[in-house]
Amino acid sequence: MLTGHSTQDTLKGQNVEHVPEGFEILSVKDSFDSWAEYYDDTFDILVKVESNTVLRLLSKVKNKFVLDLGCGTGRYTLPLLKKGAKITAVDVSSRMLSVLSSKTNKDDKKNLVLVNSDVSALSLNKSYYDLAVSGLMFDHIKNMKPAFKKISKLLKKDAEFIFSVYSPYKDNAFEGPTIHLPDRKIIVPTYQHDLETYFNIIKKSGFMIVDLKEPKVTARHRLFYNSQSFKRYAGRPLLLVFKLKKL
Ligand SMILES: C[S@@+](CC[C@H](N)C(=O)[O-])C[C@H]1O[C@@H](n2cnc3c(N)ncnc32)[C@H](O)[C@@H]1O
Repeated sequence: MLTGHSTQDTLKGQNVEHVPEGFEILSVKDSFDSWAEYYDDTFDILVKVESNTVLRLLSKVKNKFVLDLGCGTGRYTLPLLKKGAKITAVDVSSRMLSVLSSKTNKDDKKNLVLVNSDVSALSLNKSYYDLAVSGLMFDHIKNMKPAFKKISKLLKKDAEFIFSVYSPYKDNAFEGPTIHLPDRKIIVPTYQHDLETYFNIIKKSGFMIVDLKEPKVTARHRLFYNSQSFKRYAGRPLLLVFKLKKL
């Protein structure tokens, strides 16, 4: 595993106005290090709705050099490895990467490089990658410009970049998830970026928008929710999924 420099500590607690009793505000890195072991148990239907959309937007990945940015425990890395991609999986949390690594077999490992780094601080080959994917990472980055600049440099011309974020119109998206772990209660720094911010950063980083989706919970997801949660979620834009092309 490669290691890199993290700037995430500077984000500590900046977005939370009111800390509920008993909760700790951690840096992004420390939050995901603490959460890693339990992370896969917290996937809900929202994540399923999101990954269906992301995977539908992806072109063929066989033998392509793919970046999975903020890869976490491998929600995208693992299915893309199975489809024959050669993946560089990046995450600021070494514990999330360890969980991902524990889920890979010998064949997977041949086509996988794990990089423990903040995306903005990556030192990888420029104009090397055919495709990048990132699931729910930018919600945890306050200043996204350096990350977009870096990603743009690493991609070849015409490469795809598909990323998902929580919708700015999802209520409380900006408060940061409060996570109950078995041994502590934590708040993960989370930032709300509006559409205009994404649009401007995308344009200035040398990308064009090819597609934009707003996956929603619909009637067919009713079974997965109690009626209160269903009422809260159904029909509303909860996520944004961008498909970009590197110019
Ligand atoms: C909500 S999780 C999503 C993980 C995975 N992509 C998924 O969709 O299941 C966000 C991940 O992004 C990572 N992350 C957040 N900020 C990052 C940064 N600046 N550089 C690299 N990784 C980052 C976190 O450590 C965490 O693993």
